[in-house]
Amino acid sequence: MEVSRDMQIQAPKVPHLVILPIPFQGHINPMLQLATLLHSKGFSITIIHTDYNSPNPSNYPNFNFEPLPVGLSDGQVRTKDLVTILCILNDSCQAPFHDRLSRLLLDGPVTCIITDELFYFTKAVADQLKLPRILLGTSSATFATTMASLKLLRQNGLLSITDGQPNTLIPEIPPLRIKDIPDIGMIDPDSFEQLGADVLNAMRSALGYVMNTFDGLESTALAKIRQDIHPMPLFAVGPLYKFSPGSSNSLLTQDYSCMAWLDKQAQQTVIYVSFGSSASFDKRDVVEIAWGLANSNQPFLWVVRPGSIHGHDWVELPKGFEEKTREKGHIVKWAPQQEVLAHPSVGGFWTHNGWNSTLESICEGVPMLCCPYLLDQNVHARYVSHVWRVGMQLENGFDRSEIEWAVRKLMVEIEGKEMRECVGALKENAMRCMAKGGSSYESLESLIHLIMSL
Ligand code: UDX
Repeated sequence: MEVSRDMQIQAPKVPHLVILPIPFQGHINPMLQLATLLHSKGFSITIIHTDYNSPNPSNYPNFNFEPLPVGLSDGQVRTKDLVTILCILNDSCQAPFHDRLSRLLLDGPVTCIITDELFYFTKAVADQLKLPRILLGTSSATFATTMASLKLLRQNGLLSITDGQPNTLIPEIPPLRIKDIPDIGMIDPDSFEQLGADVLNAMRSALGYVMNTFDGLESTALAKIRQDIHPMPLFAVGPLYKFSPGSSNSLLTQDYSCMAWLDKQAQQTVIYVSFGSSASFDKRDVVEIAWGLANSNQPFLWVVRPGSIHGHDWVELPKGFEEKTREKGHIVKWAPQQEVLAHPSVGGFWTHNGWNSTLESICEGVPMLCCPYLLDQNVHARYVSHVWRVGMQLENGFDRSEIEWAVRKLMVEIEGKEMRECVGALKENAMRCMAKGGSSYESLESLIHLIMSL
C-alpha cells in the first residue's frame, strides 16, 4: 500500500506522534517515558511495538497501541548475540511497520515518527511515506563520543592496542583502558561495525536527536556530539524517568514486597543489587555473589531475575545462605527499581551500569559498585568510578572476599561517604537541569517547538 504525506489533506488537530521502541527493557523504558511526557504536553500518541516483549496497553489508557508481528521468541533471543538480534529486528520490522503506518495514515495525519536510533530501517519507511523522523538515543552521550573517537582512531591507524594488557590506559580516550573498549571481545566485530555504519547512515536524515541525559552530568560529551558528530538538533532532556513519574513500563511484574522490607531498615544501610534485564551469569558467580553479600554483613536487597544464569530457568542459591541472611537480606525476582533507589534506606547500588540504572542511581543520589557486563556499561562504569567519582568498580570478576571488601568500602567506609557526597551534588545538578529555565527543561521546550512546527 502506498500512502504518502501528500495524501494528508488536513493538518492534525492534535499533533499525532507514532512511537516505535526497541523491544528490550532498557530501550522501552526511556521511549515510553518520553511518550508519557509528550502526551502530557498535549500530543496524541500511537505506540507501534513488536509482538515480542509488548508493553502492557492497560498501563497507558490514553495511548493507541499497534502490534507488529515479527515472530521473535525468547529462545531465539537467548541463543543469539545482541548485534544479530538487532539486525534480525531491523529486517523483520520494516515491511510490517510500513504497512501499519500506511494504514494509520488512511485514518488521519501523522505529525512525526519517533524511533530508537538503533532502528535504522525506519529511514527507508519514513522517506517512502514522506514523514519526518526524530531519534531517541537510549545510552549516554559519553558512550556516543567514545564510539566516534574509536572509529576515528582506528581509521587513522592510531589505536594500537594489540600488544597492551587489559588494564593498559588508552591515552587518546582517558580514562578508558583496553578492557573498557565497548566492542572488545565481540563475537563478530565486523557485524558490529556494520550495525554502527547503518545507524549512522540512518541518522543523517533525521530531524532531531533526543538523549536521555542532562547537561549537568555530560556537558563535555554533549558539546562534542553537537560540534563534531551529529549536526542535527540535539535535545538532552533527561533524566526522562523523573519527568514521567508513575509510568510503568516494566515487562516483568515488579515485586513491591521489598518496599515494606526497606521501610524496616535503617537509613542508607541497604545495598541494592541488580544487574538489569539481560545480563547473565555462571552458577559459580551467583554462589560468590551470595557469600560475598552474606559475609559483608550489610543489609541487602537482591534482584535475582529468572533466566539470569546460563542454561537455567531459575537460580539455586547456595545451601545455608538463606538461613544465614534471613535477618539481613531480601530477594525478589524483579523490583520497582526507581522507587527502591529513592528509598531512604538504600545507601548503595551494585549495578551492571546499564544507562538507565546509572542515571537512576545518580539522580537518586546513590553511589555505585560497578560490575559492567558489556558494551556501553564498561564505559559507564569507568566514568562512574574515575570521572564522576560516584562509585567504584569490582575489577576481577566475582570473588566472595573481594565482594565483601567492596560492599563494606561502599557502605560504611570513608570512600563510600565521599562518593555519596559527589553523587548528592550530581543529583542536585539533575534537579536544576529539570527545573524551569534548566537545560533539560529548555531542551524539552525546544523539542516540542520543533514538533509543533511540522
Ligand atoms: C540495556 C543496556 O544494558 C544499557 O546499557 C542500554 O543503555 C539500554 O539497554 P539493561 O541491561 O536492561 O538495558 O539495563 P538498564 O539500562 O539499566 O535498564 C534496566 C531498566 O530496568 C531500568 O530502568 C530499571 O529501573 C529497570 N529495572 C531493573 C526494574 O524496573 N526492576 C529491576 O528489578 C531491575
